[in-house]
Amino acid sequence: MSNSKIWVPPIKIQGIKTKIVPLIQQAVICDEDTVWVEPFMGSGVVGFNIAPKHAVFADTNPYLIAFYQAIQRGEITSVNAREFLEAEGAKLAVLDDEYYYEVRNRFNQYHDPFDFLFLNRSCFNGMIRFNKKGKFNVPYGHKPKRFAKAYITKICNQIEHVEMLLKVNNWHFIEQSFEKTISEAVENSFVYCDPPYIGRHVDYFDSWDETQEKVLHDALVSYGGRFMLSTWDHNTYRRNEYVYSLWSDCFKTTKEHFYHVGAKETNRNAVLEALLTNYEPKVLIPDEETVGTGEQMKLL
Ligand SMILES: C[S@@+](CC[C@H](N)C(=O)[O-])C[C@H]1O[C@@H](n2cnc3c(N)ncnc32)[C@H](O)[C@@H]1O
Repeated sequence: MSNSKIWVPPIKIQGIKTKIVPLIQQAVICDEDTVWVEPFMGSGVVGFNIAPKHAVFADTNPYLIAFYQAIQRGEITSVNAREFLEAEGAKLAVLDDEYYYEVRNRFNQYHDPFDFLFLNRSCFNGMIRFNKKGKFNVPYGHKPKRFAKAYITKICNQIEHVEMLLKVNNWHFIEQSFEKTISEAVENSFVYCDPPYIGRHVDYFDSWDETQEKVLHDALVSYGGRFMLSTWDHNTYRRNEYVYSLWSDCFKTTKEHFYHVGAKETNRNAVLEALLTNYEPKVLIPDEETVGTGEQMKLL
């Protein structure tokens, strides 16, 4: 199911968990019969690397879901993505930001998954952000030879890997809110949640507040099966109070992580990432720490 090399997916997102995947791989409990449920899939890097046989990947961002559904239907392939990126990359090389903004306008009108890929791989820092009217508004990420041959090959290899995963596994991609995804989770599921981080600046498709954090907690409790929540524990300036109140009955495994993306100086500092689980995880990496009683939520 899991392997040691961490594989990076074709769509990027701020808050991507690539660096924490090895720790998550050790701490999850997922066998051949488990249904992996990921209500906040984002880039999908976590589930794609766990590579479960059965999975539900959901998100409220319709464009992420549409992109993977298009691969699943064979409408996006590593072959036609190469043709598209070569053609569009050539226009970008001539017209530069003027062409980027032309594609951005086109995407905001027609929502073509190919344009979503193009924007995601040429915008500033691979961010996904929308304005209040729902328009994608990330500026151009200036770089000479933005779609160089090697870069296109890298993206197409990433798409090819997804194609392979979709062939051998039973995966579903659904655009829906986390409440619905968790309420539909069957008994033998493992629910991995990575919501926008409470109390930190976020710019995804939807915002996140205390009410949603509580709704998420209640949804996970009433689901009753095993779950893991990714959140932040503390940075130099403050701690995440919800870890010590709302989620205090969970086991906590922590790992230091450095975020590069963030407009504010305070968001660029090292953050201690926390994995909260309702079971005691078996974590082998020596410098990780697992604490907690898990009294109220413990399953085992
Ligand atoms: C922190 S990102 C997930 C990152 C992902 N684990 C990764 O490594 O790439 C949070 C995701 O939650 C989604 N989201 C925000 N509010 C949501 C909601 N109410 N229901 C479902 N998904 C939501 C966002 O669109 C975003 O893709």
